[in-house]
Amino acid sequence: MKIAPSVLAADFARLGQQVEQLNQTRADRLHVDVMDGVFVPNLSMGPLVVEALKRITPLPLEVHLMIVQPERHLEVFAQAGAASLIVHQEACPHLHRTVQQIKDLGLKAGVALNPATPIGLLDEILIDLDLVLLMTVNPGFGGQTFIESSLDKLRRLRARIDELGLDCELEVDGGINAATAPRVKQAGATVAVAGTAVFAHPQGIVQAVKGLYGNDTTATP
Ligand code: DX5
Ligand code: ZN
Repeated sequence: MKIAPSVLAADFARLGQQVEQLNQTRADRLHVDVMDGVFVPNLSMGPLVVEALKRITPLPLEVHLMIVQPERHLEVFAQAGAASLIVHQEACPHLHRTVQQIKDLGLKAGVALNPATPIGLLDEILIDLDLVLLMTVNPGFGGQTFIESSLDKLRRLRARIDELGLDCELEVDGGINAATAPRVKQAGATVAVAGTAVFAHPQGIVQAVKGLYGNDTTATP
């Protein structure tokens, strides 16, 4: 299972230094949480931060859009250097079109599901997706507790992806730490986002990422 540190939990006054440390780890990509204060109650960062990150890391930038009408902002995030864009199912009445727009920009397309959103709502679009992001907390804030019922949902989605024989990443987001990481891996996640567990680790960022990989030798590189 791959680890995607979420910069939401970084110290923004020292963002450059902290990302520099991540560059030395086995982190697979950086996860960037964009919030608009409408789709979720919180506000965070936008394309300027993505553009700044792009200049200081070779890691692919995965942009998680927790915003209404994400289709209005896809191009600007593509120009800022995003490698993949994740939109919420709940924010997209024309999800098929939005996913195609992301692909037309040459980026990987992901769709996120809130904890209360059934996986069946992705049935008609799963075949078009590069990634599904299962929220394992309610989106909007870092540092929340992993929702236990997500494990069963994760297993069911894993089974569905396998049944269809799809090459679609299955990522989890929220409350991932050294205790929950092995459990989501076991349930079928291929990527795990981790914010607090990486940036607030008492032994620092490098140790934190190592700890999340644990003895996992199947992860790349
Ligand atoms: C929550 C965000 C997450 C957040 C995870 O709305 O989508 O990516 O950064 O933070 P932790 O790992 O602290 O739960
Ligand atoms: Zn996120």
